Amino acid sequence: MRRVVQSFDEWRDAARELIARQVAPEFVEWLSQPGDGDLFSAAPAEQGGAAPGANAAPQTNLRLPRQLMELLVSAACFSAADRWSFLYKVVWRWHLGERDVISPADPDGARLNGMVKAVHREEHDMHAYVRFRERKEEDGAPRFVAWFEPTHEVLPQVARHFARRMGNVTWMIATPAAAVLWDGEHLHEAPSLMRSAADIEDAGEALWLTYYRSIFNPARLNADLLRSHIPSRFWKNLPEGAIVPAMVSAAANGERRTGQTGTVGRRGGATTIPIAPERAQPQRGQPTTLDQCRRCDLWENATQAVPGVGPERARIMLVGEQPGDQEDLQGLPFVGPAGAVLEKAMAQAGMERDGIYLTNAVKHFKWELRGKRRLHKTPAQKEISACHLWLEEELARVRPDVVVALGGTALKSVLQDGGVTMKSVMDAPVRHDGRWVVTVYHPSYVLRAPDEATRREAYEVIVEGLRQARRLLGD
Ligand code: URA
Repeated sequence: MRRVVQSFDEWRDAARELIARQVAPEFVEWLSQPGDGDLFSAAPAEQGGAAPGANAAPQTNLRLPRQLMELLVSAACFSAADRWSFLYKVVWRWHLGERDVISPADPDGARLNGMVKAVHREEHDMHAYVRFRERKEEDGAPRFVAWFEPTHEVLPQVARHFARRMGNVTWMIATPAAAVLWDGEHLHEAPSLMRSAADIEDAGEALWLTYYRSIFNPARLNADLLRSHIPSRFWKNLPEGAIVPAMVSAAANGERRTGQTGTVGRRGGATTIPIAPERAQPQRGQPTTLDQCRRCDLWENATQAVPGVGPERARIMLVGEQPGDQEDLQGLPFVGPAGAVLEKAMAQAGMERDGIYLTNAVKHFKWELRGKRRLHKTPAQKEISACHLWLEEELARVRPDVVVALGGTALKSVLQDGGVTMKSVMDAPVRHDGRWVVTVYHPSYVLRAPDEATRREAYEVIVEGLRQARRLLGD
């Protein structure tokens, strides 16, 4: 049986019909027909005959959860010859009740999540590296034009992103496969008549280069970092790509020391900034949202970053280690087995979960595969330090009076001391940065301690620590 599809909508309709007829993936040949599809809406298309074993009449009305639909929609943008058949296999396995199919621990789940991640990354790269060049507005031609060569099919969603941000100025983004035109009100698919960035009449180039030169700071130049932040495949289409190599070599030849002296000398007031460079540095490459964080490598194998939750002005903040398997999938802290222990201890200590801010020292799940399970791996000090930026942001925003560190990783992050041991601070609360810090065992220790007596004792320490936190507030 053969199905020819040009878009996700067509694939979804075909998949629904095939599932209803109980057609297994091995009986379907999926073909793509690029070129004729409409990027922004697509009409279903079908071809083919009956497969061996297929039922003629629909038998099932397949309902997919939102989480799976979102994965499928994103993965469908991944450029791979077998993407439609792979997605059908995923849906088929789900239909058979195999919920593992979306888990990163399952081979198909790992591929699915990898495709989604690559597509999100491509969207992010395209937001960051598309460069619009201004042209003369004549004959209804768009005022800004950009050229980009995406690895995956992300042009429609990226075009919507720019349409939301650029108001009613007219623009066009061209790629080798297609172009999108914004007339100030609507998006239109346009044929891609360009073959490279050189095809764009480049009225604004000189301006852009002047601007880029003025923000370039040779004293801070880290050429490797620059290259790793802007992968080399983007360089050739960036206007600044032509001048950066010259600036990099000038910096290596001495401008690193002297590059900004002229500008700094012209400024009034103090020229020394009273902040240690290692604290100032993260601000520079700081991601604007947790979701975009690439400060360490943990994001690569995690489903998502898990932010803290709770009232914006909670007086108590509980800090755990890192999300576990369930937290990673649901995007919420403490919703798995350790969360159940914590919840029970909180109830016993008279703490209402709703009034407490719950978060973790490390926001991405670090794990290793054992059989089919993703097992927790303790984060390294460099990952704890990299992620501290986000805890610091939460502490500054929520301003709790008491922080409860659940376990050693949380303690190191809260006290900003990689060498501190739990034993040294568990006896009594300590003051740090103007607030109390109470240290207790991590709830998962209650689950994995070797014997019943140790488990009971660990649990009591947690309950007592939570009571202590309340007492410190005077409650
Ligand atoms: N363990 C943690 O430290 N945090 C969670 O969110 C879940 C388990």
